[in-house]
Amino acid sequence: MTQEEIFKAIVAHSKEYGFIFPSSEIYDGLAAVYDYGQMGVELKNNIKRYWWEAMTRLNENIVGLDSCIFMHPKVWVASGHVAAFNDPLIDNKDSKKRYRADNLIEDYLDKIQEKIDKEVAKGRKRFGESFDEAQFKATNPNVLREQNKWNEIHNRYVAAEQANDLKEYRNIIMDCDIVDPISGTKNWTDVRQFNLMFSTQMSNTGEGEDKIYLRPETAQGIFVEYLNVQKTGRMKLPFGIAQIGKAFRNEVVARQFIFRMREFEQMEMEFFCRPGTEMEWFKYWKEKRLKWHVNLGMGEENYKFHDHEKLAHYANAATDIYFNFPFGFKELEGIHSRTDYDLGNHQKLSGKKIQYFDPETGESYVPYCVETSIGVDRMFLAVLSHSYHEEKLENGETRVVLSIPAPLAPVKVAVLPLLNKDGLPEKAQEVVDEIKYDFNYQFDAKDSIGKRYRRQDAIGTPFCVTIDHDTLNDNQVTVRDRDTMEQVRVPIAELREMIDKKVNMRNLLRKL
Ligand code: GAP
Repeated sequence: MTQEEIFKAIVAHSKEYGFIFPSSEIYDGLAAVYDYGQMGVELKNNIKRYWWEAMTRLNENIVGLDSCIFMHPKVWVASGHVAAFNDPLIDNKDSKKRYRADNLIEDYLDKIQEKIDKEVAKGRKRFGESFDEAQFKATNPNVLREQNKWNEIHNRYVAAEQANDLKEYRNIIMDCDIVDPISGTKNWTDVRQFNLMFSTQMSNTGEGEDKIYLRPETAQGIFVEYLNVQKTGRMKLPFGIAQIGKAFRNEVVARQFIFRMREFEQMEMEFFCRPGTEMEWFKYWKEKRLKWHVNLGMGEENYKFHDHEKLAHYANAATDIYFNFPFGFKELEGIHSRTDYDLGNHQKLSGKKIQYFDPETGESYVPYCVETSIGVDRMFLAVLSHSYHEEKLENGETRVVLSIPAPLAPVKVAVLPLLNKDGLPEKAQEVVDEIKYDFNYQFDAKDSIGKRYRRQDAIGTPFCVTIDHDTLNDNQVTVRDRDTMEQVRVPIAELREMIDKKVNMRNLLRKL
């Protein structure tokens, strides 16, 4: 199966098993808006819990917040979003489709990179053990030609991005013969800037102005509540404020499922510190956040840092954690050193003093800030795509299994009476009564046991517990492990402890 086919299979599986549905599907859906179904909401809540507890419970100096989606319109002037939260867009006159000009160029660069990688893979196969990658790259004419092309386009692209030169974006697209994937033509419009914020009306904002925005990031809610939290919580620098909530962006999207949505959820933490210490904290949070990801056991090799070449106007350092999605390494989380840009601008525009009196230095100043920002939905996609496997079994059948890290799994245990008679369902109910206060469970008495196992594999249930005729006499059940498919007999009295060992979030948090 190609990566594209795997991605399609994941999208179809998500719908079939109640993880993700296209929003308003009975009206043919709404582009880039998705609903989470009965399984999806459980997985999503578990991801949020893992983040929230890692942030707030494991760090004495980080507290939570739940601020509103609607904020005073001046917030978005101070943050720079009204003036500069734009994407460079280009339309194809034949297909009438709209694209992000920067994405078209990045995709083109990715394709050149793929060609280089393929040549290197061929070389490795040809030369075997004696293969020297650096020497091969420095001498192979095909690699050199493609690398020079990549460097030239990349340099032009970075320069255009830094100068915000929209004409040059178009020149690159034309010079590289980048065509619209639908019409196959180069009949492009000029590149224009397009603000990503959604707006609506509110009757009284106190400004004689009724335009109000749906927040494009949760971070600003934290900045405008900084003073309240610092004072009421008697917080001393350095300290952080964490928040999970919805954000909205009018994205131009092309078949990216929940990777890029118009309504999505963010988990953001703003860490306030003394000016001059921000680089130390930036490094600290880079390491901490990578550890949080790797701790899930989805393979260290599937993550990499990607430092920003062009820093946003408010940042003095920025990096992304990239994850190996089925469509390649892409941004999963951002870590930004935002200086005093946000608090400083809110201080200026609101006229309210936003300062911290530092008892150690005797000075007052606007704190600096390091931000960690991750999309819940992107994290969901990372977990789902990494977990999805189609396995050939010894008996020739195929099973689809989601090997979701057990503490994040939507259902932890399935309770399955072997037959729906002979007192087995009643005995199974006793098992349910034993475990229901601790674990999310499903009771399933329909179809053959094999079919029931397949259903649980498909939603990623770590344990299936089968109640058979012997159970009535010996009070033991058969426990099947999702990943190994091994089965063991376990006394009902020990069941809770056995399941807990594997699925309790505590075990994940302990390893952080
Ligand atoms: N406060 C900083 C901020 O919002 P960002 O890089 O624009 O930074 C942070 O977004 C994270 O939010 C991204 O790394 C990604 O995980 C998620 N995200 C951003 N836009 C998204 C979208 N349209 N759909 C889903 N997730 C998105």
